[in-house]
Amino acid sequence: MRRELLLRAVPPLLAWYRVCKRDLPWRHCRTPYTALVAELMLQQTRVEAVRERYVRFLSRFPTAEALAAAQEDEVLKLWEGLGYYSRARNLHKAAKIVAAQGFPKDFAGVRALPGVGDYTAGAVCSIALGQKEPAVDGNVLRILSRLYADGRCVDDGSVKSEYAGLLREVYPEETADFCEALMELGAIVCTPNGAPLCGHCPWRDLCLARRAGEAERYPVRREKRARKQVEATVLVLRCRDTFALERRGEGGLLARMWQFPFFEGEAPDFGPVLAQKRATHVFTHVEWHMTGKLVDAAQPFAPYVWATAEEIEARYALPSAFSAFKAWLR
Ligand code: ADE
Repeated sequence: MRRELLLRAVPPLLAWYRVCKRDLPWRHCRTPYTALVAELMLQQTRVEAVRERYVRFLSRFPTAEALAAAQEDEVLKLWEGLGYYSRARNLHKAAKIVAAQGFPKDFAGVRALPGVGDYTAGAVCSIALGQKEPAVDGNVLRILSRLYADGRCVDDGSVKSEYAGLLREVYPEETADFCEALMELGAIVCTPNGAPLCGHCPWRDLCLARRAGEAERYPVRREKRARKQVEATVLVLRCRDTFALERRGEGGLLARMWQFPFFEGEAPDFGPVLAQKRATHVFTHVEWHMTGKLVDAAQPFAPYVWATAEEIEARYALPSAFSAFKAWLR
């Protein structure tokens, strides 16, 4: 039953996609490498935030060989502001593997690249290698749970694998369009927040949730755990025209990224506070509530690296959690 419904849903979805798809830079020219870059950038990140960053990244690193030859710090600088920086490190590692061995030819090979899970491997294989490999992300879970008025919790892995199996059975020859059409429907019609635009949907006559007038009841999701709340102090230490920076530790949040001296709770006293401001940054599982303090230092001192505003701008990847305090660099 589910298979038949999905099979009937394929042609109107493809027809809709060809007319209504957004003009996105990664849809212009695709190599397996560019598809990998796009899909890694798009994980957890809005399309609008990715657009011009993708173009800039590929103009600097048009091939896996170019990326493989780069220093990690330059890769992170180009990723600055996109968040989830382990994606950038994994992409860099993947590029080294691809430069040495060629791009993998099948799902298992793509899935084995660093940072690539089932979803990303499915997307790269169907978008760039012409293979009938499903890619089930949150968009696809939402549109299928609505199509089927499926009241099961989609966070349950068995729903995802069932949907992947169904998609595999109905995959058309136009693998790239089909994969992207599923995501596109979830992004621009069958939206996650607010009422979906059912009147514009190619599945409006097929969708069981819509027919019951209950699209917004789906998908059923597990309740999210509350984020951990962290109080912190961020010191913008200034010595003439330079500012103190430190690298974060190896593990955990924003691993090895650059930051202003950062202290959980209160900071030690480094002298008179010239200006102070509060800023909050929300991560997936944590919220930082930061007090930023601008303090003058008479001399540069260890363990910090001291850099001018221009050097910070050019070379140091400073995550957007600290954006509010960059105002003090000018
Ligand atoms: N989100 C994830 N992959 C995408 C793609 N290829 N196009 C649009 N949105 C996406």
